[in-house]
Amino acid sequence: MTYSLNASHLDRMLGRWQSQGPAYLDLANAFRTLIMDGRLPLGSRLPAERSLAPQLGISRNTVTAAYRLLREQGYLQSLRGNGSFITIPADHQQSNRIASWIPAGQDRDAIDFTIASPQASTSFFDATQSLHDDIGGNVEDAGYDLQGISQLRRLLADRYTSLGLPTSPSEVMVTAGAQHAWGLLIRLLTKERDQVLMESPTYPNAVDAVRSLNRQTLMIGLDGSDWHTDLIQTTISRRKPALSYFMADFHNPTGLVMPEETRNRVIASTEKAGGHVVFDETLSDLALDEDSPLRPTTTHRSPHVIMIGSFSKIVWAGLRLGWVRAPAPLISRLVTLRAAADAGNSIVPQIIACRLLESYADVLRERRRSLRQGRDVLADAVRRLLPRWSFRLPDGGLSLWIDLGARVSSRLALVAPEHGVRLLPGSRFGADSTLDNYLRLPFVHDEATAREGVVRLAAAFDQVMNDHDARRPDHQAPVPRRSADRSLAMTSGHGFL
Ligand SMILES: Cc1ncc(COP(=O)(O)O)c(C=O)c1O
Repeated sequence: MTYSLNASHLDRMLGRWQSQGPAYLDLANAFRTLIMDGRLPLGSRLPAERSLAPQLGISRNTVTAAYRLLREQGYLQSLRGNGSFITIPADHQQSNRIASWIPAGQDRDAIDFTIASPQASTSFFDATQSLHDDIGGNVEDAGYDLQGISQLRRLLADRYTSLGLPTSPSEVMVTAGAQHAWGLLIRLLTKERDQVLMESPTYPNAVDAVRSLNRQTLMIGLDGSDWHTDLIQTTISRRKPALSYFMADFHNPTGLVMPEETRNRVIASTEKAGGHVVFDETLSDLALDEDSPLRPTTTHRSPHVIMIGSFSKIVWAGLRLGWVRAPAPLISRLVTLRAAADAGNSIVPQIIACRLLESYADVLRERRRSLRQGRDVLADAVRRLLPRWSFRLPDGGLSLWIDLGARVSSRLALVAPEHGVRLLPGSRFGADSTLDNYLRLPFVHDEATAREGVVRLAAAFDQVMNDHDARRPDHQAPVPRRSADRSLAMTSGHGFL
């Protein structure tokens, strides 16, 4: 079913779009911003020119000219007699997985703050040393499998057991990363149009996975620096979502850690309501203090609780390896579901992962040290060059979650490539059109790159604020710190509840 945007909703989303340029150009620019930060669903239908023009208080010719420009640039497709539909230019679609928000003609030498994935660790290269001999010992096998080689599943299971959550290898499935695991779980545990409960902000690709499978998102905003435990509990009890998704340790993008009580109440209400909760542990081991003990999200064994994890952040995303920890019968169903779509895991990265898990303490020490340095360098550069920005220094994770003090994140992401830097606006992490006053900055770069990146960012921010301040006096107050999130306590699908 096509989703049609109505004129008054669009009017609110566009906000004060008029700048000093020709009106049709400003309007087209505002549309591009909304499309590129993911706030206008691809494939949705724009209102007819005759209904949008009076709503915006402009002439129909202006809307016609803006739509024409968007069509020429590849952001709209018109079907005769059927309306205009949002799309993205073909050259964006190619890099859509990583960068659907990046405008055409991007600078390949730009400093990239869009991806929170560190470079391969030296432990990774060490672990590949014995690959030749290890593979030699396994050539009699087919070299691929659906659930994961037993040695790796045993190591992952032992790891959970040693951390206080007794686990057997039959409760573990190896996947091509945590995103793959999440996609399989959505398909197994929900059906079309079911609601999936998620936090806002959250990991945007997790949201994309839900929506691309035609499920609805039911998003609950974090309350500044904490979870709305009561609201989450009530929502699970009343709405009984088939599936919920949370990041309890070093939440991406905020770096927050979910209090023990919230975890327990999420689990208890899920058990009572009869659905499943998935805890994404992709960032869980990334405490930046070297001596921080490891722990699973919970040590409570429950048929309703599933964990997914990944080697992507600790070792390297290029390994494409993750896992699911779930009750054995659920793992069997997942394996069957997977068989219809792909032939399974290659043995090669799995062997590397086994070597890495055997010396996990060293692997972790290396990653934590480099991320800690990265965080401190980035935080220092931001404090010096962008003193208007505010953030909480996270104890773990991969990024700073920055309050810009103004709703300009999408604009900033739009002009950033002109300054040689690429960004993901905060709204990409929020429920629909929210969180445009935030920016996620990953600290995965070396010192020189991070510092240069912030210099470029400061120039881009100057440009945006000059423009913003010039337009502001009559209509926009600065965003009050923190309170911005409260207004989005709960949203569903594409609208507010
Ligand atoms: C919270 C979270 N989950 C999952 C993923 C995807 O991980 P993978 O590379 O294992 O698919 C990421 C990557 O950024 C992430 O931040």
